[in-house]
Amino acid sequence: MISEKLKRSREYEDEHIKKVPEEERPLYHVTGGVGWINDPNGFGMYKGEYHLFFQYHPYSTHWGPMHWGHVKTKDFIKWERLPIAIAPDTDVDEAGCFSGSSIELPDGRQLLMYTGVHRKENAQGDMEDFQQQCIAIGDGIDYEKYTANPVITTDMIPEGNNLNDFRDPKIWKENGIYKAVVGSRGADTSGEILLYESENCLDWKFVRIIDKCNDEYGKMWECPDYFLLDGKQILAVSPQEMQASGLEFHAGNGTVFSIGEERADGSFMREGVQAIDYGLDFYAPQTLLTEDGRRIMIAWMQNWETSNCGNAARQIFGEMTIPRELSFRNGRVCQNPVAEISNYYSRKTSYKNVLVQDEVSLPGISGRVIDMTLTVRPVDKGVNWFKISVAKDGDKETTICYDAARKVIRIDRTKSGLRNDIVSVREFYVDPTREDIKMRILMDRHSVELFVNDGEQAASTIIYTPQTAEAITFDTDGTAVMDVENCVLEF
Ligand code: FRU
Repeated sequence: MISEKLKRSREYEDEHIKKVPEEERPLYHVTGGVGWINDPNGFGMYKGEYHLFFQYHPYSTHWGPMHWGHVKTKDFIKWERLPIAIAPDTDVDEAGCFSGSSIELPDGRQLLMYTGVHRKENAQGDMEDFQQQCIAIGDGIDYEKYTANPVITTDMIPEGNNLNDFRDPKIWKENGIYKAVVGSRGADTSGEILLYESENCLDWKFVRIIDKCNDEYGKMWECPDYFLLDGKQILAVSPQEMQASGLEFHAGNGTVFSIGEERADGSFMREGVQAIDYGLDFYAPQTLLTEDGRRIMIAWMQNWETSNCGNAARQIFGEMTIPRELSFRNGRVCQNPVAEISNYYSRKTSYKNVLVQDEVSLPGISGRVIDMTLTVRPVDKGVNWFKISVAKDGDKETTICYDAARKVIRIDRTKSGLRNDIVSVREFYVDPTREDIKMRILMDRHSVELFVNDGEQAASTIIYTPQTAEAITFDTDGTAVMDVENCVLEF
């Protein structure tokens, strides 16, 4: 049975999707059919295909009562849109179906686990949103919500934890047991990740607190993910209200990988932390494991603080990053675009040993839907900086500037079509021991994703520059030699 609310949202999407101008939509990044999206949800394998759901408000380009949009893919690049999966249409989730995850059940059905938000009177007589974990089960298109929802209630959290900050379950199966990590806010008002276990996905029990923020990395920890990567245990979280710390973490909504070990008793021992992405637009990442053993991560390529800036006339807002393969190398979690992207290279232009002294542009090196890799080697000690300008036309440009003395990359989208005075510059450190630097830049109309030194750092940024701005130039204050390869993508 499909509820009236879900039916209406599906019909609305069908009707309005046709009205979205083609050039608003990226070609290989996921967006909603129409309206607003945020976090990726339910990223998982089902019947041999990869499914992705997302926080969705089709009715406007602003956040609103959350539905789950739905797409699927065979290769992470070409996506097929499916009908909206769930709507906020029951007594326990009428204020929103918040983020969550999915898993294939042994009987061949697909289970969605999400946060149901329910508005009710609190002990003080004020209306408040309560967050609890719910499930819906379906066939890959239509889902039925479990009548005994919620399956993890606010009664099952540690004493003193906040009742309205308890969300974003990430489910997986390990040794025949279902496990789920959920974001919570402890009695000290900062984040905690709670672990639950179940034998059947319906009856859950609280097991332990996996990791605590202790006021160190932001406040509430949203959207946890917990997985093994090349022998290391990784906890990914998206903290709210971070405070800036050096060039590693910026203020506001951030993303953190905690890297560590799981002790014999199942508790997590944090050994180190790193920012997940150093750009302007990246939040709420979620991962899946492919059949061939790759851990793939996708995230919302936006930022809460600056969302809804850009072009007010747009009919879609928000998109996902390219799915990225994770690996653990030299003490860091590294990320690179999924290998499948190379199946879509249509025109390749490469140059070797190009001498860069003043600003240069090269035939075939341009475009807004590209995968470009360059390696830069300073020839003399006089190279203080090396700059790449993309999406360039007249005074419009998005720049990626390597400060060779400080070993810092600076991304600047100040002149990228924005009409709001929002944060537009970020800096981050790269490997200080290397003489050369390798940068891979993916663009898809309104996005720039940078991967440095084979994914040691990634930086994702949305730009608002008109599509006619497609020039790319290279410049330095000294003399450098560059190899560059540009692949234009076609679908
Ligand atoms: C993160 C988040 C989640 C929540 C969802 C609501 O971006 O705040 O914690 O489930 O968005 O849309």
